[in-house]
Amino acid sequence: MQEPEIKVLERVVRALPEHPTICEIGLARGETAAGIHELLGGRCTYYGIDKLLLDDARANMPWAARLWELDSILAHPEVPELDLLIIDGCHCESHVLLDFLHYGPKLRRGGYVFFHDLQREPQSQGMVGCPLAMDDQVGVYQALGKLQLLDGGLRGWRLLELMFDGLGAAVLQRLVT
Ligand SMILES: C[S@@+](CC[C@H](N)C(=O)[O-])C[C@H]1O[C@@H](n2cnc3c(N)ncnc32)[C@H](O)[C@@H]1O
Ligand SMILES: [Zn+2]
Repeated sequence: MQEPEIKVLERVVRALPEHPTICEIGLARGETAAGIHELLGGRCTYYGIDKLLLDDARANMPWAARLWELDSILAHPEVPELDLLIIDGCHCESHVLLDFLHYGPKLRRGGYVFFHDLQREPQSQGMVGCPLAMDDQVGVYQALGKLQLLDGGLRGWRLLELMFDGLGAAVLQRLVT
C-alpha cells in the first residue's frame, strides 16, 4: 500500500472496538497485517486469505490466528463475525463483487470494509490469469458501482471514504446486522 491508503486504513483501525476481529483478503508479504497488528498492540484476532501464501507472509505474521491458502471464493465459510474486512485479493470485478457479497454479511454493526486499489480509469497492471475475470482490467471501482455502494443505494451500508490518491481506497461501514 502507499502512504495515502495507509493513512485511511490507520484511521479505520484506530476507530475499531477493543480486540477487533479482522480479515484481510490478499496478504502478499503480510506487511499491512503486521502494521495493523503493531498499531493495535497485538490486541486483535487476524484472519488472512491468499491463494498463494508466501513464506514472507508467514514470517511477518507469526502471531496470526489463522491463515488460509485458498481462493477467496472458497474461504468465506470459515470466517467468523468481523469488525474489519480488507478486500485486497484478486482485483477483477468478479472477485471484488463476490468478496463483498460473501464476506460483507459477516461484518458486525458499525464494522468496516476497506477496499484497496480503486482506479477510475481502466488499468490492467497485474491482472493476468484469473479464471473469473471477464477482462484483464482492475475492476474494484466498477464492482463498487454495480453493488450500488458509491451512491448509497445499497441499504445498510454507508460510504465513509472514497479516495483516488496513491492506489486508491474506499471505506464502507455496516449500519445494520
Ligand atoms: C495487492 S496484493 C495484497 C497486498 C496486501 N493486502 C498488502 O497490503 O500488503 C494481492 C494479493 O492477493 C492474492 N490473490 C490474488 N487473487 C486471489 C484470490 N482469488 N483469492 C485470494 N487471494 C488472491 C495475491 O496472491 C496477492 O498476494
Ligand atoms: Zn479474479
